[in-house]
Amino acid sequence: MLGLCEPSSEPLAARSRKQTHPEPSPPAPIATSRPSVSAVEMGARQREISVSEFFTKNRHLLGFDNPRKALLTCVKEAVDNALDACEEAGILPDIVVKVEAVGNGGPPPPASQASRFRITVTDNGPGIVRQQIPPIFAKLLYGSKFHRLRMSRGQQGIGISAAGMYGQLTTGKPVQIISRTGGRSPAHFFEVQIDTKKNEPLILEKKQIDWESPRGTQVTMEVEGRYQKGRASVDEYVEQTIIANPHVKLTYLTPEGETKELPRTYDQVPESPREIKPHPYGIELGMLLKMLQDTKSHWLSGFLAGDFSRVSPRLAEDICKTAGLSPRARPRDVHGQAAENLYKAIQSTKIMAPPTNCLSPIGERAILSGLYQQIKGDFYTAVSRPPAVYRGNPFVIEAGLAYGRGPEQAQEDQQKKAVPLAEGEADQSDDNELARVIRYANRVPLLYQQSACAIFKSVLDTTWRTYGVSQSRGALPAGPMVIFVHMASVWVPFTSESKEAIAEYDEIRKEITLALRECGRRLGAFLRRRERAYSEQNRRDIFELYIEEVVESCNRLKGGRLPVAKLKEQLQKMAMRRTGGEKTDEVLGKNGSGPEGLPHSIIVTPEGVEGEVPKMIVEPLAATAANGNGHPAVEEKAVAKSTAATKATAKTTSKARAKGRAPATGRRESAGRAEHGRKIDRRPRSAHPTAKSNARSRRGKG
Ligand SMILES: Nc1ncnc2c1ncn2[C@@H]1O[C@H](COP(=O)(O)OP(=O)(O)OP(=O)(O)O)[C@@H](O)[C@H]1O
Ligand SMILES: [Mg+2]
Repeated sequence: MLGLCEPSSEPLAARSRKQTHPEPSPPAPIATSRPSVSAVEMGARQREISVSEFFTKNRHLLGFDNPRKALLTCVKEAVDNALDACEEAGILPDIVVKVEAVGNGGPPPPASQASRFRITVTDNGPGIVRQQIPPIFAKLLYGSKFHRLRMSRGQQGIGISAAGMYGQLTTGKPVQIISRTGGRSPAHFFEVQIDTKKNEPLILEKKQIDWESPRGTQVTMEVEGRYQKGRASVDEYVEQTIIANPHVKLTYLTPEGETKELPRTYDQVPESPREIKPHPYGIELGMLLKMLQDTKSHWLSGFLAGDFSRVSPRLAEDICKTAGLSPRARPRDVHGQAAENLYKAIQSTKIMAPPTNCLSPIGERAILSGLYQQIKGDFYTAVSRPPAVYRGNPFVIEAGLAYGRGPEQAQEDQQKKAVPLAEGEADQSDDNELARVIRYANRVPLLYQQSACAIFKSVLDTTWRTYGVSQSRGALPAGPMVIFVHMASVWVPFTSESKEAIAEYDEIRKEITLALRECGRRLGAFLRRRERAYSEQNRRDIFELYIEEVVESCNRLKGGRLPVAKLKEQLQKMAMRRTGGEKTDEVLGKNGSGPEGLPHSIIVTPEGVEGEVPKMIVEPLAATAANGNGHPAVEEKAVAKSTAATKATAKTTSKARAKGRAPATGRRESAGRAEHGRKIDRRPRSAHPTAKSNARSRRGKG
């Protein structure tokens, strides 16, 4: 640098003198350290950037910023597509996910040390027509979901091609696809790569092959990655996917060679959402101008009524009148000030909210079923909010909650607490553990960028203390709790292309908060009732302990002439009356009643399940499987099913009779639904191993 500056030969004193009396001097040339570049030269350097080149450099935007996350993103994109395709075709999804460690030239290393993985995802969906396979898997921004307004997991048209591009970039291997559209058509095998300069597919191989599946798609990618269990891992993604998609049967072959069978627990394909037209409130001026140019309608009123949802021909005429435009005007002639007037007129007209049949929320029953099957707990509840709208896009918020550690664990904890702690010894109780938030957008679990997400912020902003759960300022609520939130929308406003966090629109925040508050209220009611019931039960146990003594003493005083059994019975009745009566038994789940006043909720007690667990279907399982929550696998349940069903029906009938009402209408539910719930009560009270020991230990402690 110094060498390029003019060296000064003048002494310092002379220079400083000059500075005190400056003389006007000609403008100095711009000092530069490099040869200057002309505009023409700069112009010659301008080049178009292809979308694939852009995302090759910015792969972190697509969720490929580190090897662990990249492995998850690849699996996620393939599984999401498979589920979307199956549901769109009305097929109950049967998905196989295989992740294998691959040796770099040699034998495959153990999964934890491997840096390369082969991912294979197979579905039983409709398959893909031959011509579409190369662009789908090797062209960014190519897909069937971007231009339509309808709820689906994918929306951008980048997902699977980006995963393939990441594989190509890190291992040099192409994506392999097998697809078949039906039993009579052949299966096609393709090996494709993306030409990143042109964003076009390169077909390396294509042929017809024999494939055992009658219909579906299989995609195989080799990518650089890291396999590690725990939070935000492939395993967690699979687990959480099943919670929000109980209609899916998923087989997961882990890199460690395990086979995890996650059975289908709900046998209905979600209702297929309808495609809707844009709502007038959701469009911006530029968009309106483009629509005016592209429309096939010849009249302005026809354009408004035909290209937007919720605009009737009469309303279209009204809008034209407000804008001062003729309903017979040609849409293409509406531009400039006229278009602005039209835009303002639309915004000032009262238009009905968009239809919501474009959404397919999970539903309270399915959420309850998913949470119950996968998470251990004592209390479960689910809330589906009515549809709302942000920027013209309809959406539905659903929330669920699983609280507690399951009755067995709760009992162990209770016993541990009986041992007094030494001074300074920390109490590792439930309260030290923070709640876990599981977030979903269009049924897809969101595993990264939690703190940037509107769902997480709404959970933090909810005052959980009101509902009996401790919470430090600005922190998650404490306790053994899993909070589930799902946003279903035709367009989920993600904060980035990697689809990891939901943007904060006021309408969305409000709906999430309302759903969480409802869950919190139900949890609060459950906790209060349980607390009260436990203390009443303890009192009753103490009374019962002394009844024996009192009866014997009275008998002795009366010289052995007292009717001992009668007195004992009377005292027991009195103890029962004084300790909340049957209500205490009810809350503690001892008399087969459901959680009254807590809609769409399940309470699990050592004695059994209170409330209605939504219907489970029974399928034969190939491999040994246990549900994520450690509850018995489906076959075992199937065996216990008939007995449990008979018992539960009998219990509810007797209870209903006691309350003087028809058995099936106990909780304003249909007979069929009530039946389902009882059928899958997997822990018949009498058969429960902890039921008797529990009662014994309580008596002992009293
Ligand atoms: N397994 C599959 N079966 C049938 N069609 C598929 C399958 N996988 C992908 N497709 C089709 O390929 C298209 C492109 O998939 P891609 O994942 O790239 O984008 P997307 O799912 O539309 O959006 P996103 O980028 O948000 O995932 C999809 O829109 C879908 O029509
Ligand atoms: Mg996709």
